Amino acid sequence: MDPPESLLTAELIEAQIGGLIKVHEAIEQRKLFILDYHDLLLPFVSKVREIEGTTLYGSRTLFFLTPDGALRPLAIELTRPPIDGKTQWKQVFTPSDHSTGLWLWMLAKAHVLAHDSGYHQLVSHWLRTHCVTEPYIIAANRQLSVMHPIFRLLHPHFRNTMEMNALARESLINAGGTIESSFSPGKYAMEICSFAYDKLWRFDLEALPNDLIRRGMAFEDPTAPHGLKLTIEDYPFAK
Ligand SMILES: [Fe+2]
Repeated sequence: MDPPESLLTAELIEAQIGGLIKVHEAIEQRKLFILDYHDLLLPFVSKVREIEGTTLYGSRTLFFLTPDGALRPLAIELTRPPIDGKTQWKQVFTPSDHSTGLWLWMLAKAHVLAHDSGYHQLVSHWLRTHCVTEPYIIAANRQLSVMHPIFRLLHPHFRNTMEMNALARESLINAGGTIESSFSPGKYAMEICSFAYDKLWRFDLEALPNDLIRRGMAFEDPTAPHGLKLTIEDYPFAK
């Protein structure tokens, strides 16, 4: 069994923050953020790597919220599970001024961006906006009178979704289609999508403000407008 522990240690993070603040203080002050594609992608790494011309890692990226409200990437951990008799491989990359370190940092960032754009299209976009809405549209049309106030309320939001989803099944998410040929998970794209649905989708946590609180983007504060405060002020989606 390979160690599940991350190599992103307190010492490493403090060195990157520049010794200004301890890790536990940064967490308490909600200044530390993680973009976590470790658990979601790791189970797919071995089989995706069998596809010619692509590769995959699990990734964890840490960010520090600077006083001017920007998210500064501190470190990236890439992980490859045991494969072909080789043990687990795991490495942390950090920003660097030296040529080799700089290129490694840029390559690590390129991997994370590939993970993030894949996640955005497969999970945030296809799954969480198009796909999960479909059962509600079908159920509403089958079960509610067109005069029912809930039906009237929902109806404008259902516009075009079924048609778009049908088109997507035909030429976007279909086997060998645009998604499978453009994103690194290849033919496993839809499997990752349903894996994410199983692991992450919770009816009671999808709407605002619960979604923001769950993701650490806001916290409850009875004195604040709407009863919650954003951890990153400049966040138009939340606003
Ligand atoms: Fe869309």
